[in-house]
Amino acid sequence: MKTLLFVDDDPKVLQGLQRQLRTMRNEWNMNFVEGGPQALAFMARQPVDVIVTDMMMPGMDGSQLLSEVSRRHPQTVRIVLSGQAEREAVLRLVGPAHQYLSKPCEADELRNAIIRTFSLCDLLGNEHLKNLTARIKSLPTLPSAQTRLTGELQKDAPSLERISEIVARDIGLTAKIMQLVNSAFFGLPRQISDPQEAVAYLGLTTVRALALSAEIFSQFDPRLCQLFSLDILERHSWATGLLARRMAHLERQNNQMMDQCFLAGLLHDVGQLVLATGLHEEYSQVILQARQKKQPVCQVEQELFGASHADVGAYLLGLWGLPNVIVEAVAWHHQPSRSVAAQFSQVMAVHVADVLIHERQQVYTEAPPPGLAMAYLEKTGLAGRIETWRAASLENDEVY
Ligand SMILES: [Fe+2]
Ligand SMILES: [Fe+2]
Repeated sequence: MKTLLFVDDDPKVLQGLQRQLRTMRNEWNMNFVEGGPQALAFMARQPVDVIVTDMMMPGMDGSQLLSEVSRRHPQTVRIVLSGQAEREAVLRLVGPAHQYLSKPCEADELRNAIIRTFSLCDLLGNEHLKNLTARIKSLPTLPSAQTRLTGELQKDAPSLERISEIVARDIGLTAKIMQLVNSAFFGLPRQISDPQEAVAYLGLTTVRALALSAEIFSQFDPRLCQLFSLDILERHSWATGLLARRMAHLERQNNQMMDQCFLAGLLHDVGQLVLATGLHEEYSQVILQARQKKQPVCQVEQELFGASHADVGAYLLGLWGLPNVIVEAVAWHHQPSRSVAAQFSQVMAVHVADVLIHERQQVYTEAPPPGLAMAYLEKTGLAGRIETWRAASLENDEVY
């Protein structure tokens, strides 16, 4: 049985949560405590799968509590449930919280967020990888992206358009901005998948505060995993995102679908970044074997870790509360037939774009991904579109 811990200084709120979630009492072991120190004492006695905490509490507030939890119990999923009035405080949670929900929270919304988290935990079977991923506060960015972003923000009249472009070209920055903007904290009526819209929504003040916080920028140390190249991965991801969006356009999909295809394409290999950062020695071995034996990198990962970068990436983005369609497209980009979609979908766009971009562009692993899932493409009636899509991949030479 999964164990949950709810923390709030107001006993009435705790009683309300207990009432809201009583239908789950036979499935979840739910516990309620009135403050940070009590929560830490509870967790020292027994492991907790998910902690849901209030933000404003006397003594130790939610952000301090979650920072401590992430240090002592990195595998625990950390959710903040807080009032809209404390919106500014969300910036302090960018690092320690995985997800943010806003009060008042409908019983269904809270239950679904927790159920989704548990199904994600089942997606990634390897406990070590799960801990590693849950511990991540931000993803490495290229030094050039950091310099360009801070440079733009220091100008007298920074351009939101240029800021969005810098963000959209960077896997780590995009993932972080999407985590923030899609949190229920901002109370948006629909999910956002376009980095430009996300930046515009957050506004200059928030983006500046984010860029100044140490939490958003971390750098990849190339000496640790010398065979990995963040620069090449960024270029591969950008090209895949652009082609996936172009394919959606060619298939006359709507704007939302085009945005989702781009975002999923940009983030599809985010798991490689997680693995190269967190397990540099082991990941050097993965790359070496992929190169020497000309094996797809996901196959070698599966052999050595029992999970691939697709699983790790999907787990991270799911933990961070990104839209389900993005998480699915990332999870199945090498095995699109696992998706239930019977027509053009984000999963298919990313799968095909990834393979077609590999035909044109070398990646640091120097080994091709598994080929096109032709049986699935035939089944969905889209196999005949491959040549049109391949032609589209040849159109835009400057991105390669
Ligand atoms: Fe991949
Ligand atoms: Fe890829």
